Amino acid sequence: MSQLETPLFDALLKHRNRHPIQFHIPGHKKGQGMDPAFREFIGDNVLSIDLINIAPLDDLHSPKGAIKAAQELAAEAFGADHTFFSVQGTSGAIMTMIMSVVGPGDKILVPRNVHKSTMSAIILSGAIPIFIYPEVDEEYGITHGISAESVEKAIETYPDAKALLVINPTYFGFAADLKRIVEIAHASDIPVIVDEAHGIHLRFHDELPISAMEAGADMAATSVHKLGGSLTQSSVLNVREGLVSISRVQSVLSMLTTTSTSYPLLASLDCARRQLAINGNHLIDKTIRLAKEARKRINKIPHLKVAGRERLHSSATYDMDPTKLLISVKDLGITGHQAEEWLRQNANIEVELSDLYNILCLVTLGDTKKEINLLVNALQRMSQAFDSEACIKETEVNVPDIPALAMTPRDAFYSSTEVIPFKDSAGYICAEFIMVYPPGIPIFIPGEVITQENIDYIQMNIEAGLPVQGPEDTSLQTIRVIKERKPIY
Ligand SMILES: Cc1ncc(COP(=O)(O)O)c(C=O)c1O
Repeated sequence: MSQLETPLFDALLKHRNRHPIQFHIPGHKKGQGMDPAFREFIGDNVLSIDLINIAPLDDLHSPKGAIKAAQELAAEAFGADHTFFSVQGTSGAIMTMIMSVVGPGDKILVPRNVHKSTMSAIILSGAIPIFIYPEVDEEYGITHGISAESVEKAIETYPDAKALLVINPTYFGFAADLKRIVEIAHASDIPVIVDEAHGIHLRFHDELPISAMEAGADMAATSVHKLGGSLTQSSVLNVREGLVSISRVQSVLSMLTTTSTSYPLLASLDCARRQLAINGNHLIDKTIRLAKEARKRINKIPHLKVAGRERLHSSATYDMDPTKLLISVKDLGITGHQAEEWLRQNANIEVELSDLYNILCLVTLGDTKKEINLLVNALQRMSQAFDSEACIKETEVNVPDIPALAMTPRDAFYSSTEVIPFKDSAGYICAEFIMVYPPGIPIFIPGEVITQENIDYIQMNIEAGLPVQGPEDTSLQTIRVIKERKPIY
């Protein structure tokens, strides 16, 4: 089959064009049973392929036809031995990777700044996380990846580890020396599984960091929807044969996946793969040029700076994705959150994320010179608007501490717990996830000892208007902790 073909999308179109009388779910039946306003808005094209796993359309849980062919083309395009489609985002693919390689009591080496799906899978699997500290960038107040040296040390200390998880690249676009890390882990027969949520485009351009499959990793969970042009929620899990069992991966994926898999999502994966395979290099080249031009122009705006290759100085910060514009606004005397709000209100611009010191803007296949001009012009106006404050305020950069793990996340999750005031919780063991930024990366996970420094750090984020995610009490007046067992007198 050629990369020009889209077997799954074609099968859906062929089926639709036969106009079969449907006596199966979804009950809206090509939109006829749907709220008319929504039907009109979303359009009959999408509704006509919102179908279910009837025989002509194959089944993601046991693919033998069009889905199998589409996955095989994807594997070829992404340089994998096998590719599995995920309709549960990269979160679902990450959980599948982890639960395929570790079980109860197994040790898994993970950077501490992992996405919460990694911690969820660790809790569900019963594995024991051994945290590797990521490198910290004090200038921008962000965490990077892990160094090859720290991986070497972790394997020396825990030679019985069953897997190593690496983030390639991070949310901010920084990548570690993955090839070296894979060589180190493979020398001890430890499979390397990669959170590649922000890396679908890597394989298609030489100016980007190396992709997990090119680096020799065993599995990579990759969001096609984030930067590869498919619909939100659609991702792939790329697998290399050798240290992991393909049939085990398929059965774990099936355990974690809805039986009502969305065909519009699956078809969008099929078509995004075609676009990347055929035109990816050209489109990404254009994207890189746009981002480079934007970086140059933004760096000329007073009080603003964009993180670039000058941040690279170790095996943890080995390469970077230039399409990510991490813009520091701290010298302007405002928080990233204030910058986000200012851009929303004054320029109708929505950024990817903001934190205390930065905003993150993504340049993608969907951008043109016009959007770059609008962003640069808006940032120029913002710089002028806050110019007077920039001269007086000096901002100190704080990065959250990495707390000590007092019990496994799974034990903490299933322990007796109690709810106490957040401000009094220093010294207690946390029983829930608390996240501020980037979205999904926890400051506390179940099992960690709460520190006063991190309470202060979270308060600082709340005061700056940044949303807190994860706790049962969304206002974070209270927090769920492991119940203290008091002596009986
Ligand atoms: C580093 C990282 N890993 C995993 C995920 C989860 O990806 P998804 O939203 O596709 O489930 C994200 C989402 O933002 C992420 O930033």
